[in-house]
Amino acid sequence: MNIRFSADKGLGGVLIPPPDKSLTHRALMLASVSSENSEIYNPLETGDCISTKSCLESLGVRFLDEKSALEKNSGKKYTVQGVGLHGFIEPKSILNAGNSGTTIRLLSGLIAGLPIYAVMSGDDSLCRRPMDRVVKPLNLMGGKIVGRENGKFAPLTFLPGDGLLNPLNYELPVSSAQVKSSLLFAGLRSRGTMVITGKVHSRDHTERMLKAFGLPIEAGEGIVKLEPVFELPGFKFLVPGDISSAAFFIAGSLLSGRELTVKYCGINPTRTGFIRILKRMNADITIEETGIELGEPVGIIKVKPSSLTGTVINSVEVPDCIDEIPLIAALALCAEGTTMVRGAEELKIKETDRLHAISVLIESLGGTVEILNDGFIIEGPQTLSSGTVKSMGDHRIAMSGAILSTCVKGGITVEGFDAASISYPNFIEHFSTLGGSTDA
Ligand code: S3P
Repeated sequence: MNIRFSADKGLGGVLIPPPDKSLTHRALMLASVSSENSEIYNPLETGDCISTKSCLESLGVRFLDEKSALEKNSGKKYTVQGVGLHGFIEPKSILNAGNSGTTIRLLSGLIAGLPIYAVMSGDDSLCRRPMDRVVKPLNLMGGKIVGRENGKFAPLTFLPGDGLLNPLNYELPVSSAQVKSSLLFAGLRSRGTMVITGKVHSRDHTERMLKAFGLPIEAGEGIVKLEPVFELPGFKFLVPGDISSAAFFIAGSLLSGRELTVKYCGINPTRTGFIRILKRMNADITIEETGIELGEPVGIIKVKPSSLTGTVINSVEVPDCIDEIPLIAALALCAEGTTMVRGAEELKIKETDRLHAISVLIESLGGTVEILNDGFIIEGPQTLSSGTVKSMGDHRIAMSGAILSTCVKGGITVEGFDAASISYPNFIEHFSTLGGSTDA
């Protein structure tokens, strides 16, 4: 699907972003292995999260869908009938994680070592992404997982175990919330303490949820420790808005000099690195906390017109803004001076090689960027021209292309825009409500 976006009058107003993708995945999975029923309000119902839900259904979990009566949102409510930590049944067919790294990696931690045989795979992009980062440590726990090229790639096969896993003391070699969460999920069924050290700084949703359930988890500077448990309690959770989705319109409002208010948005500090970087780029942005949901702070973000300046982003900051780096590139094109990102080599193994995708995107619009092996350098401001860009099948690249229409006259066509539905099903509708137009 090719869509033409133009935003000559800019993008601004009030935005209620779609529900958080990372939080929906975790809520669906933890509700499934709880020993009671749980209620999830406002789950993200699209691409990746549908993959998680259908894998869980194949593992024997039942979801009762209802329209939510909650005033705050018009979304759905799922009542999840948890089967317990040992309750998954042997799936009759291959579990399909689609395009979702979070589904395959986190779910691996819940399946490994159970007395069932299961195979999990996904689309071409997912089958190219490294799985050994979870397969190796889960196998050290006795997980019995095999995969293509010695466990490096999906399809992954889970051979039956006795249900319990060995305790593990593991130094994380990569900063990845997916790996950390997979190991914590496995640690729930371990025979002893799970200790994770090394690169543990990344989004901490799993730690916060487990803590909110009252489970024996300690998360400190450079270390996370979890004691095994027999069961998880049921819970109620109203999923906050996704700051990574809101980020597109935050960038759009700054690029076009319009005010924007984002309501009911997750503002967990391990997800707001983008906002901290924007403030350093001279953006006038405020965050006000309005509540807490299962340990997750929720609030309002206000953005005012600002003249942006370039900045340097180093490896320490990258985990807290990993999904927003394509947008940092878009903003750098309009900022005064040099912007440099380093330590972001993980971008090469996302849904597509996002460093390459950033350069193709910018060059298709007549801009320039110097791509490094772990980041990029952009000199701004640059004058971009109207044109056509490719999503490369990556939701975040598709939407970054659409947002760049705020800084060109005549609009931008995004080829393969359907990729955006992986995380932001109503992007086109929000683009129009906030002042832009499309030919959709
Ligand atoms: C996610 C973690 C990040 C992020 C992805 C979602 C999660 O991936 O890029 O969009 O929900 O845990 P990594 O853990 O590979 O960095």
